[in-house]
Amino acid sequence: MIRVLPEEIASKIAAGEVIERPSSVVKELVENSIDAGAKNIIVEVVGDGTKLIRVKDDGEGIKYDEVELAFQRFSTSKIKTTQDLENITSLGFRGEALPSIASVSEVSMTTRTEDEKLGTLIHLKKGKVIGKTRLPCDKGTTVVVRNLFKDFPARLKFLKSKRTELSHIIELVSNFIISFPEISFTLIIDGRRVLYSEGTNDKIKAISSIYGETRIKKLEKKYENFEIEAFIIPRWKTKKEITLFVNRRWVRSDMVNKAVSQAFKGKYPALILNISINPSEIDINIHPQKREVKFRDEWGIFEGVLEVLGNISRAEVIGFLGGLSLRVIGQFQGKYIICEGEDGVYLIDQHAAHERVLYEELRGRGYSPQGLLEPVIFELSPREASLFREHGFEVEEFGGNSFILRAVPLVLKDDPVSFIKGSLSGDMGELSISLACSGAVKAGQVLSSMEMEELIRRLFECEEPFTCPHGRPTLIKFELSELERSFGR
Ligand SMILES: Nc1ncnc2c1ncn2[C@@H]1O[C@H](COP(=O)(O)OP(=O)(O)O)[C@@H](O)[C@H]1O
Ligand SMILES: [Mg+2]
Repeated sequence: MIRVLPEEIASKIAAGEVIERPSSVVKELVENSIDAGAKNIIVEVVGDGTKLIRVKDDGEGIKYDEVELAFQRFSTSKIKTTQDLENITSLGFRGEALPSIASVSEVSMTTRTEDEKLGTLIHLKKGKVIGKTRLPCDKGTTVVVRNLFKDFPARLKFLKSKRTELSHIIELVSNFIISFPEISFTLIIDGRRVLYSEGTNDKIKAISSIYGETRIKKLEKKYENFEIEAFIIPRWKTKKEITLFVNRRWVRSDMVNKAVSQAFKGKYPALILNISINPSEIDINIHPQKREVKFRDEWGIFEGVLEVLGNISRAEVIGFLGGLSLRVIGQFQGKYIICEGEDGVYLIDQHAAHERVLYEELRGRGYSPQGLLEPVIFELSPREASLFREHGFEVEEFGGNSFILRAVPLVLKDDPVSFIKGSLSGDMGELSISLACSGAVKAGQVLSSMEMEELIRRLFECEEPFTCPHGRPTLIKFELSELERSFGR
């Protein structure tokens, strides 16, 4: 049953911009298809999506008499009372999507319910119905959206390149595939099938089809008020790549982001989190596109996520990520170590990797001073002298501002005089980084296989193996699946 919402509820629903770009149309139409109980959903896009978007489903359809109502503002079959608004189980509930889409494009809808012999075709321009007729068609609903934003140059100007707009659509449909593994999705762009899922209700299979990765680790935990499921995909990055679903809705949450940062500290695998929670415990109404979620118990969620992710010890993650099973193939340009792993080729920057190793070893084990054969005399301020002392230099007062240098940290390879002069003119707070840099193998230095293997072993003993102390990456991975795609396999 479709009804016009009473004013009271309508006013409770925050008005906002629903249709921002082509992917917003796809999102709203697919959500409607899911809410209609579809088992098969086909999305077709032409160009960047402004030309044509078609979404076809085999859901419950809309009765002839109610089709116009679907395009009226605040008309929905999904909520009836204010209480329902507190307890949303459908993806849609505002009754805003179809009218919003129809007001910025040309829409036609073909639909038939199970009980009807003939379906309905309706056509709208500028939000007004310009034709409606009976016709034979499959059960379910097909919506075609043409010339999106054609009369809205300001909106068109806001759109990005075709590639970017399509990437939003691909990401969106990928996430529907992950969140609704029981539904078969097909995405066709310019006549080419880009995504397809069978809809066999196998979550891991759905995730691996999207990420091209079969090694997926699942962690889960039930709490009193919610349940968390995490899927860890072995692709580490310095930027968070979290895909969060709350009650199967793809959303963002600052609190969940915080918990993930705390759990992984600077190096993140790709991560999918599913949180199932009583709908009355969340607010999704805060964002016009329902993309942001607030939990009633934000800190409870924070602790839950942290605990679920905390159950993977770091070593296990690194081992799992394939870091420990690298085999050295050779050295490239006297700069990079080439390795093979189970699922890709890795390039390790020998200097950056060694810097990381030395930096953590210096801070962990200390600086191991090494006596100088010929002591050197320096002018230093007392503060500079004490900083050098803290970093393994042995300096003694020699009258006035003069100090005598008797020993330097073992790691120091550069001539101590130029190192000290360089440090005095630079940032003294970074002495341990400078020492690690000075001691690390340089670009151009040829390494034996044994030396390379040893370096990699020590790298993976580090707490932060994936960046050098300056924050640059120590290694880069070329995914086997990506390589194969590039070769058209
Ligand atoms: N694909 C579809 N299949 C069946 N019914 C649909 C479909 N799309 C829309 N509807 C009907 O039209 C109504 C209005 O849709 P919409 O404007 O997206 O609002 P909402 O999804 O918030 O209810 C829905 O409540 C639903 O009854
Ligand atoms: Mg909707």
